[in-house]
Amino acid sequence: MSSKINLEFNGKEVELPIVEGSEGELAVDVKSLRQQLGLITLDPGYKNTGSCESGITFLDGEKGTLRYRGYEIDELAEKANFLEVAYLLIFGELPTQEQHDAFLIEIKEESYVDEDLKKILESFPKSAHPMGVLSSLTSGLTAFNPSSVDVNADDQIYNAIVRLMGKLPILVSWVYRKRMGLPLKYGDYALGYVENIARMMFRKPNKEYVANPIVDNALTKLLILHADHEQNCSTSTVRIVGSSHAGLFASVAAGISALWGPLHGGANQAVVEMLEDIKNDDGDVQKYIEKAKDKSDPFRLMGFGHRVYKNFDPRARIIKKTAHDVLNDLGVVDPVLDIAKKLEQTALEDEYFVKRKLYPNVDFYSGIIYRAMGIPVEMYTVMFALGRLPGWIAQWREMRKRKEPIGRPRQIYTGEQKRSFVSIDKR
Ligand code: ACO
Repeated sequence: MSSKINLEFNGKEVELPIVEGSEGELAVDVKSLRQQLGLITLDPGYKNTGSCESGITFLDGEKGTLRYRGYEIDELAEKANFLEVAYLLIFGELPTQEQHDAFLIEIKEESYVDEDLKKILESFPKSAHPMGVLSSLTSGLTAFNPSSVDVNADDQIYNAIVRLMGKLPILVSWVYRKRMGLPLKYGDYALGYVENIARMMFRKPNKEYVANPIVDNALTKLLILHADHEQNCSTSTVRIVGSSHAGLFASVAAGISALWGPLHGGANQAVVEMLEDIKNDDGDVQKYIEKAKDKSDPFRLMGFGHRVYKNFDPRARIIKKTAHDVLNDLGVVDPVLDIAKKLEQTALEDEYFVKRKLYPNVDFYSGIIYRAMGIPVEMYTVMFALGRLPGWIAQWREMRKRKEPIGRPRQIYTGEQKRSFVSIDKR
């Protein structure tokens, strides 16, 4: 295989190096292109552009492969707990029992938030979308933790990591509890990381909390499956914000905002709303398939399609099975699950979806599980953010460790050429 590519423009020829990843992925290194030929590359949506080299997550969209630090997602979802996966993503290796326990203890030490931050949460209207509230509160952590914002100090970065891992679950559960009209309380720190999240969220003031292992296991799986997904919209946002040397809290707050949109993490909310609409429309699945295919209709089949997966999304397979198990075990009968299955089957047999390689993505079934747990629909993307946190941290840390330059794309200007100012009375 050639290690370079030749490019000729205006009679000048240059050689650009080919970069090969550890799984054989190839890229043209265009770093010197502008300097040598006066050209830039143009790729809106970055469909063909690698923004960085990364050693965290590998995915092969054709084969439906997803690995964190070399470990298959199926194996991690089956055998690991969420904190092991978080440690793996952030620090590069699975923790020993000692490392795991020490990490958990450090996180627990940071599992509280300033009472003034609670006041900020309380001042939001109850109807505010939880993603906007969560992003604001996460950004607010910067103000309340000034000793964790120096991006040049390794100890401060480590503090920021542990603090985020400790404080985000509290913010998430409080955002949920406020919406549900429940008192804002702390958890039981004798419990494991995910078990404590479930307790913080679901504990009622009028009864003893009884843990439900089905809910804890499903939550663990969902968080692991969402933990990282290489350079998606929110992760790229976290890296690019961090590349200006903004701190970890501010960068993650920006990632939460990016995740909010329905084309990204907001899809889990949009899927359940769409399924509800279909149910209320006499379950007419075919009508919605036709709407999705109609180019004059902005409607898209939510939870379908993916920028990278063009065969199947391995996370969707695991989640579909988990949705079944959870609904069965909890004894929940939800007509929306049947509509989802019918919609999936109809789409997978339809030429439009087959030709464009559109398959259910991670969010097609995740909302159904959250719904079975009694979580309101506006909270689904918040749960996604909780899972994605270790990935954002890992990617931000890698970007800092690799001393990446500030992210600053170029553009091709297509506006007016130079013209003279005309005073307002002459326009
Ligand atoms: N429903 C109907 N048609 C679709 C859908 C869909 N869900 N997704 C893609 N298409 C069509 C497009 O209209 C386009 O058709 P064309 O070639 O005739 O113009 C073709 O498939 C390619 O679609 P693009 O938009 O170019 O694909 P892209 O890679 O840019 O978008 C995305 C990927 C945003 C995920 C898209 O498939 C989508 O909007 N899906 C629905 C939203 C969703 O589920 N998002 C969650 C993604 S997973 C995540 O972020 C965690």
